[in-house]
Amino acid sequence: MTAHPPNTATAVFFAPARINLIGEHIDYTQGRVLPASLTLGTRVTMRPRADRQLSLHSVNLDESLQVSLPLGAQTRRGHWSDYVCGVAWALEELGISLAGAQLEIESDVPLGAGLASSAALEVATALALLERAGRRLPARELALACLRAESDWVGTRCGPMDQLIALYGRCGQALLLDCATLESRVIDVPADGAWILADTRVHHAHASGEYNARRSESEQLARAAATGGREMRSLRDFSSGDVAAVGASLSPVLARRLRHIATENRRVLDAVSALQRADLPALGALLSASHKSLRDDYEVSCPELDAMVELACVLPGVFGARMHGGGFGGCALILAAADRAAQIAETLRERYERATGIVPWIHLCRIGDAARRLR
Ligand code: GLA
Repeated sequence: MTAHPPNTATAVFFAPARINLIGEHIDYTQGRVLPASLTLGTRVTMRPRADRQLSLHSVNLDESLQVSLPLGAQTRRGHWSDYVCGVAWALEELGISLAGAQLEIESDVPLGAGLASSAALEVATALALLERAGRRLPARELALACLRAESDWVGTRCGPMDQLIALYGRCGQALLLDCATLESRVIDVPADGAWILADTRVHHAHASGEYNARRSESEQLARAAATGGREMRSLRDFSSGDVAAVGASLSPVLARRLRHIATENRRVLDAVSALQRADLPALGALLSASHKSLRDDYEVSCPELDAMVELACVLPGVFGARMHGGGFGGCALILAAADRAAQIAETLRERYERATGIVPWIHLCRIGDAARRLR
């Protein structure tokens, strides 16, 4: 941790949202994932205050509130300010004494769409609070503090992917992130492939509970694997033979969960090879296989996501598609030929609206840089 003079001037910070090309629901089982940071993100403008108050304002929601440092558990409110307060709490838990600030938050990331809007808010907030306090943390420690805010303060027991990619992302590149060691490698993303996000605009209320339930199931699986006497570091090392052997002693539900974890880990490595060969059809097929596995084995999709994926996959120029992020609503991610992406987006918008009566949000992704100070 390094110290520099506390900031007494206004400063603006940005942290990106992300897509995850493939490797869904395996970051919390020490899997490998393949996220990329977007040009969409959250901006926090920090203006110093002389006292130990944090005054927060969400431009998007036109909501303000004020909290006093240090934060106690009683300041948990069950809304967006929890992410900000959680970060302040996690930084103070590291022994960093924060100073008062006014934080104005503005975002162009759709909320609850599976694009890691919460991690973007956490990371931009952390950069702003550290600057105000005159402290710096290495990217990895900063990401882990934000992760702690999300799991221990907000209560979503997510994996490390979102916070790390917000801090490690690189323009035009994805990151092969090893969630066991937290080491990463950049992988070029071919420019002739377009990554399209199609938000179903549905958010099922049980999503966060189901997310934590999947995590608990994966912990049961890790225990079952350990008691099976397997000398494996984690579930990601399971071959299809191991899945069959261990699966026989599990409930049908847990056996399906295990199959998703094992096959999705394999697909991530295959996707890296496909990216390195710039083989978009092979990459698309992996995305579509991932969707089936998330839908049938991990059971984190929903009818609207399945409809979006099916509607996308029949369009000329689409290589593959899948549900994206935590699931139970939010976005599908579609890989398409770049020169047909605009037409695909238009047709998909019409067909999804016709099928469901809901107007989707469709976005052609640009892979941008990691979190940073803007000014
Ligand atoms: C959410 C979590 C991530 C990850 C994804 C699913 O976005 O925040 O850690 O688990 O779901 O891959």
